[in-house]
Amino acid sequence: MHEAFLINGLAGEKKLEGEIKINGAKNAVLQAFAFSLLFKDEVSLSNVPKIEDTDRMSELLAGLSATVEQTGETSFVVRTKETLNTEFPYEISRRLRASIVLTGPMLAREGEVRFPHPGGCVIGNRPIDVFLESFTAMGATITEDGKYYVITAPIGKNEARKLRGTTLFLRVPSVTATQTLMMAGVLAEGTTVIKNSALEPETVDLANFLNTCGARIEGAGTTTITVHGGELLSGNGKVFQTPPDRIEAGSFAILGALSARDLHIKNCAPEQMDALLYALRGAGVPLEIGPDSLRIHGNSKPNSAFTAFDIKTKEYPGFPTDLQAPAVVFLTQASGESLVFETIFEGRLNYTEGLVRMGAEIKTWDTHRATIKGPTPLRGRHLEGPDIRAGLAYIIASIVAQGESTVHNAYYVDRGYEAIENRLQSIGVDISRISA
Ligand code: EPZ
Repeated sequence: MHEAFLINGLAGEKKLEGEIKINGAKNAVLQAFAFSLLFKDEVSLSNVPKIEDTDRMSELLAGLSATVEQTGETSFVVRTKETLNTEFPYEISRRLRASIVLTGPMLAREGEVRFPHPGGCVIGNRPIDVFLESFTAMGATITEDGKYYVITAPIGKNEARKLRGTTLFLRVPSVTATQTLMMAGVLAEGTTVIKNSALEPETVDLANFLNTCGARIEGAGTTTITVHGGELLSGNGKVFQTPPDRIEAGSFAILGALSARDLHIKNCAPEQMDALLYALRGAGVPLEIGPDSLRIHGNSKPNSAFTAFDIKTKEYPGFPTDLQAPAVVFLTQASGESLVFETIFEGRLNYTEGLVRMGAEIKTWDTHRATIKGPTPLRGRHLEGPDIRAGLAYIIASIVAQGESTVHNAYYVDRGYEAIENRLQSIGVDISRISA
């Protein structure tokens, strides 16, 4: 028995209205839970979204014998003991890609780590060669025992196992590899330089906070990050404020453009959303951009009045791959033919078959490229969301469609979006959670 969302669509009408508050970013808070291993005492996190992945990361940390205490509606404290259990709980870490981020701080702190190849969504084979190659360059040795990777740091000064700072070049500007190696450098001996690092704003927030606790990280948000190694950090009462989730905000902006009369998206960071907002404005969406909010109003024209645009997903600040699926739903309703080129993952166009079954006109040329011809009316269907973001795209498509849809695999959506049905009901969506 699993859960699903039952949705009655608006058949292209724009009836939604009201406010949606954006929660803390999943792809910042998971990394913040991981950086807690760099602290000798405790670290506090606030604005933590209540999503499945946060629960899994808390369980993972408990398996490493850190203690995670929820101290408020959206605030947590993570306490680490003298020495931690260095073997990752198999099932959780296999299912959660973000578990890989724990390897950096764990290896740097304890000198060893045992972990399974991390799982995650079905959006691609998600290799970890950049992590393994970089740890090796920092002096670690890596063996595999079939189930686990076993990584040990070299013997450093005073006989302790410590990673050695060095200059690293990332074969691809991997987001979590950048963040993992930045954290590893905090406790490594000497200086670690990470070249071709990813530019995500979440990495800047993580680095800025760690620097207030005694780390010495320079260049976060640029293509070269320099980390001067030192001792365990001290949280001493400081609180990491999880930044707003720009992917959640972008997803709701797309929903608003397609189905809202007047939607106010609050507590977001529009300055981190240029690629999407530029595309939506260019398509003709009446979008008002404030310092920490977005508003779609006066949205009375039919979706066919919107002009289609091409998408090429790129590393930040390019068009986010996590918004590709929701944006393709928009393109099925706008007028014109558009090309979607998914450059980051090789499995992130699989969901388009569900949209085609709803009535969309999408031709997939290979695992990276598809063309969409709009506008096409969509009809309600049974849909199996293959990953977090495609699951939300199916919810958006179901709201636009005529008739009833069932979006299965609610767990996937719950991994990245807190209480999604309640928040959508509050702006007028006819959605309910069912056991299917
Ligand atoms: C992060 O994943 C995000 N996850 C993803 O969000 C996001 O889609 C992705 O960055 C890209 O923006 C978290 O932050 C927890 P990558 P990550 O390493 O770091 C290849 C969501 O829905 N690669 O930047 O795993 C990889 O295969 C999730 O919230 C290697 O080849 O992505 C991909 O093609 C999905 N070897 C490319 O790099 C490696 O060792 C970029 O992946 C690592 C990555």
